[in-house]
This record gives sequence, C-alpha cells and structure tokens, in this order.
Amino acid sequence: MPFDSLARFGRGGKIVEEQEKVEPIIDEEEIVAKTIRNRMSVRKYLDKDVSQDLVSRVLEASRHTPSAGNYQPWEFIVVRDVNLKNDIVEACYNQNWMKNAPVFIVACMNCRLAGAVYGERGLRLYGIQAVAAAIQNMLLSAQSMGLGTCWVGAFSEIVISKIMQCPEYVRPCAIITLGYPDLGCTPHAKKHNKNEYIHYEKFGQTGQLKSVIEEKSPTFIKLE
Ligand SMILES: Cc1cc2nc3c(=O)[nH]c(=O)nc-3n(C[C@H](O)[C@H](O)[C@H](O)COP(=O)(O)O)c2cc1C
Repeated sequence: MPFDSLARFGRGGKIVEEQEKVEPIIDEEEIVAKTIRNRMSVRKYLDKDVSQDLVSRVLEASRHTPSAGNYQPWEFIVVRDVNLKNDIVEACYNQNWMKNAPVFIVACMNCRLAGAVYGERGLRLYGIQAVAAAIQNMLLSAQSMGLGTCWVGAFSEIVISKIMQCPEYVRPCAIITLGYPDLGCTPHAKKHNKNEYIHYEKFGQTGQLKSVIEEKSPTFIKLE
C-alpha cells in the first residue's frame, strides 16, 4: 500500500506540504517504514506496568547495533525502583513527566571499550555514535510493540553517574523512558523538509537552507 507522507513543517516554521508517494518494496519494508514514521517522543504514559519480557525484547534490539570494530561500547541500566527514578528525574532538572514512565533505561558508553583501539576518535565520536544507534534501535523496537519512549539527554552526568554507581569509565549518555503511551499523545515535533538537508554529489546550499542556518545559528563552535 502506498502511503502519503504527512504535511510537514519547513525549517523556517512554515508548513511545507510534502505530497510524496512512496511505494513499499516489500511488506517488511512498509512495516519498518511505518514504525520509523510513527515513533515520536512520548511524555505521557498510562498507569500500566511493562512486563520484563517486553523490556527484554527492547533490550535485545540493542544487540544488533553496528559499532566501530564491533566493540559494542554500551551499557544499559534498567530502573524500575521508584526512589531511584525520583532521584534520576531530579538529576534531569526535574522533568517531572518522566515519573509516569514505569521503566527507565540509562544508556551509557563504556569508555574503555570505546577508546580501546580508536583512542580519542573512539571516545569522542564512534562510542557516542554506537550508543546513539543502539538507543534508536530500542526506540523503534518499543514502537513496534505499542510502547512509547522518550530519549532524555538533559541531565547532570555527575549526578546520574553517582546515582547509578557507574565506575569512572562508564559515561551516562541518555535516559530512555519506557511505558504505554497515553492515548492522547499526538506527534507535534516539526520535521524539516528533506529537500533542505539532503545534498547530492556535493554539499550545496539552497537559499532557504542558508537563511535558516543564519537565523538559527549564525556561528558554530569548532571543537579542537
Ligand atoms: C540527544 C537528545 C536529547 C534529548 N533530550 C530530551 C530531554 O531532555 N527531554 C525531553 O523531553 N526530550 C528530549 N529529547 C527528545 C526531543 O525533544 C525529540 O526527539 C524532538 O523534539 C523530536 O520529536 P520526536 O522525538 O517526537 O520526533 C532528546 C532527544 C535527543 C536525540
């Protein structure tokens, strides 16, 4: 079945109608595309527990993630304990909506593994990419099972490390909230029109892209 992509918002905040018909190649492709399309950050959860079996299935998705040199530099801490969750929420600058989610998964980078062969590049890039890819695999796995998630990155790393009793070489990168989404949840994030960020053969700036970059970020921080 072909599907119509939704009306999208352009980078400048203007609505851009993207009437693109995409023919699925095979049924499986349509299922995957739908899962990717329907995932959204869920910040309202039903008062309903998630079974350990489902949590295990979500975690299983992390195993199939690519990583540089196949070092698999990730660690995940599953948290259900209410007191621990409250401490975590506080460390997330009191994002109190998180408390409704019955399960948190604290996604960490194992810096020993990440830096083992690739040194600084492993620590600053490959390791973070691998953890991020594992997180996305889990978000999509949860979505495919009717569960809702949110990727939470705003937190004090020092405090989360302390709460989780992480050794020095384990860096908390994100917290995933997991639960059954409240039926009232609707997607609201504006998505860029892909014409604005996809380039062919060489990087080319459209006038629209240039104006948005100038408006949103006139300078950039160059890392050493
Ligand atoms: C690295 C990262 C950090 C994020 N941190 C937070 C956060 O601290 N709190 C929150 O509510 N959402 C957070 N999000 C979710 C984003 O706000 C959300 O993905 C974005 O607005 C797009 O919406 P969507 O996920 O529904 O497509 C984070 C997402 C990423 C990838």
